[in-house]
Amino acid sequence: MQGVIFSALKELVIKEYSEKTWQMIVEHCGEKYPFEFDEHSFVKDEIFLCFMMQFASITAQLPEQIYDKFADYWINSYTPRRFKLFYDFSYSPMDFILKLDCIHEIITNRLFLSFPPRFEYEKLSDKELIVTYQSQRNLINLAASMFKAIGKFYQEPIDVIKLDENRLKLNFLF
Ligand code: HEM
Repeated sequence: MQGVIFSALKELVIKEYSEKTWQMIVEHCGEKYPFEFDEHSFVKDEIFLCFMMQFASITAQLPEQIYDKFADYWINSYTPRRFKLFYDFSYSPMDFILKLDCIHEIITNRLFLSFPPRFEYEKLSDKELIVTYQSQRNLINLAASMFKAIGKFYQEPIDVIKLDENRLKLNFLF
């Protein structure tokens, strides 16, 4: 996973918890998987999972709550600052989501060892979309949290139903 994901996580943990919480996560996972990262480096997927699980354990939350928290920060705070253009060119959550596959390709296609998730779409109506998530990382629960966060960004809530390990049904409630 790209270092930029860790930069966002670090910012979130320090801002909303403390520097000490971040240090505890780094120390715990660093013992298991010695690593260094900056925004442009590649970090092994196991380390990302370790960080998420450790963040949940230290702050006494469930992994799903941590995915929601991270997705909210990534979509509603971090990426609008770092990747503003993608939001400027999307006029609704549906429009943004239909561009997601392309967004991930643009961001990662020049980076060594990057394997962004891929998305396929089946539009059932203006308010209903089935998204097929494809990634060997199997982080569909994180994807579900991200879609909810997109609804929050555009102030148009999205109800997300997991159909199976690859497909999510999105109902645009606005
Ligand atoms: C402008 C907004 C976004 C940017 C810039 C962005 C960028 C990225 C980047 C750089 C990665 C790491 C990929 C890698 O290391 O190979 C990533 C991973 C991921 N992104 Fe996004 N993303 C955005 C929005 C979203 C949204 C709305 C979703 C909703 C489903 C999403 C779902 C995911 C998931 C689930 C991963 C984890 C990796 C995986 O499942 O394989 N992203 N994203």
